[in-house]
Amino acid sequence: MVKNNWWQKAVVYQIYPWSFQDSNGDGVGDIHGIVQRLPYLKELGVQVIWLSPIYQSPNDDNGYDISDYRKILPEFGTMADVQEMISVAHQLNLKIMMDLVVNHTSDEHEWFQQSRQSRDNPYRDYYIWRDPVAGHEPNNWLSDFGGSAWAFDDKTEQYYLHLFSKKQPDLNWENQMLRQDIYDTMSWWLEQGIDGFRMDVINLISKQKSLPNDPNVNADSHGSSMTFVANGPKVHQYLQEMNSEVLSQHDIITVGETPGVTTTDAIQYAGFDARELQMIFQFEHTEIDNSQEGLGKWSDARFNLVDLKKIFSKWQNDLAGKAWNSLYWNNHDRPRVVSRFGNDSEKYRALSAKMLATTLHFMQGTPYIYQGEEIGMTNVNWSSITQYQDIDTLNAFEDLVNQQKRVTSEKMMTYVHHSSRDNARTPMQWDSSENAGFTKGKPWLSVNDNYSTINVAQSLADQQSIFYFYKKLITLRQQMPIITNGHYQVLDMDDESVYAYNRIDQDSELLIISNFTDQIQTRHYSLKDSANLLISNYEDDQGDRLRPYESKVYFEGT
Ligand code: NOJ
Repeated sequence: MVKNNWWQKAVVYQIYPWSFQDSNGDGVGDIHGIVQRLPYLKELGVQVIWLSPIYQSPNDDNGYDISDYRKILPEFGTMADVQEMISVAHQLNLKIMMDLVVNHTSDEHEWFQQSRQSRDNPYRDYYIWRDPVAGHEPNNWLSDFGGSAWAFDDKTEQYYLHLFSKKQPDLNWENQMLRQDIYDTMSWWLEQGIDGFRMDVINLISKQKSLPNDPNVNADSHGSSMTFVANGPKVHQYLQEMNSEVLSQHDIITVGETPGVTTTDAIQYAGFDARELQMIFQFEHTEIDNSQEGLGKWSDARFNLVDLKKIFSKWQNDLAGKAWNSLYWNNHDRPRVVSRFGNDSEKYRALSAKMLATTLHFMQGTPYIYQGEEIGMTNVNWSSITQYQDIDTLNAFEDLVNQQKRVTSEKMMTYVHHSSRDNARTPMQWDSSENAGFTKGKPWLSVNDNYSTINVAQSLADQQSIFYFYKKLITLRQQMPIITNGHYQVLDMDDESVYAYNRIDQDSELLIISNFTDQIQTRHYSLKDSANLLISNYEDDQGDRLRPYESKVYFEGT
């Protein structure tokens, strides 16, 4: 049964505040900049904005290392600015979803500062401390950013766990006072008027007490024990507690970031009756082109369409009537969709961006658009690793090229071009003025060179742009219940070039056809005479003849 909740009809837009709009010339995006651009998002037609973290942070991981949950990063502005942003957004009928990062804090958070003071400090148990085992780390877990997940602290001669950087110690959710502090912080933010939470790696919060070794780790491993640690013994207990203490008291949107989940896990986290979260972000399609040589995402492989269809179809079918899907192609951690799944050449960029949008936006779930996706922003191809800023990219380069010598620097740069998080983090391209209209100062991360042709001003001036195509997709979702409710059915799963599927409701049907190649494909799908073409990325319809990256949707019914 599909429930009738507002967030099931909504489209979410993700803002990465560092790179969205700078208003004071310091080269870093800020809250005022976001406020200035809210009318733009209103024009696009989205209902919800998800803000990546804006809290006080030393920025070892661009704000995913929080040192005070109730303060705003000074470069971004003040709490008063945030209140203004919430109020202007609400006047425009836009909701604000905050990022909640509570698997870990910054090591500069007061709790950790206290915790590391002594073994009997009242905050000691807010984090996960262990004695060395035979002079070494307590177990073999690896950090997601490379190296061991344990750091030794001289002062008290114990190790603390950090599944991400050393400056991101993991919180100990076994501690009831810690949990209460987090729930209080969440309630405090809801009192400020926010409308929901995106919860960072929320399925990592419960660790097995015995901290067993990760059997997947071997001498050659690069990467992460994240999947091994995920879905720990008490995670559902904690989320149900959070739900009853905080979430259920409000009509809000919640989505948990959950690496390493199956669809069965997803139903436990986000089932309609689960009393935990409303949606989760699963990672399967974003890991589709991972390395075959054990290098995780560091690869330059091209995905296979049949694999992609299998993944999406599994999620569509397994969650149907039981839980709600999130739909996304990219975010601040993933390369740009048009470069990765489409074709970012001048000839095919717009066509393939629209094709990918159509393919995703007609599925069941809540779509998430990452800033710049709606104008077809692309990956960057910087020649030197020194141009990159992302801790994950820099650590991987150091580890794989300089330390382990497993990859040549040339090869690694091709992986970086394909997979680095900085692909998504370059400043938003607003217009063709200097620095793409993002800042009057020096941008914290270089602007993509293609900003003079790919930018918002150009998109708004062209009725055929990717922007207006997204706008139409969003409008259709608001108008047509079948997009929210219809039953999904894939056609010709083994077709390696075309992705076609139906959405079927009681009295109507949609047929979605997407050619994922730069070649003409001829396919025949049966259509009732009364079917109408609803949307297409070409000006005319040539029936069975599908042109490069052609995507079209037929509607039949009432
Ligand atoms: C997932 C976030 O999306 C990513 O940006 C961050 O580095 C890690 N979690 C750690 O917080």
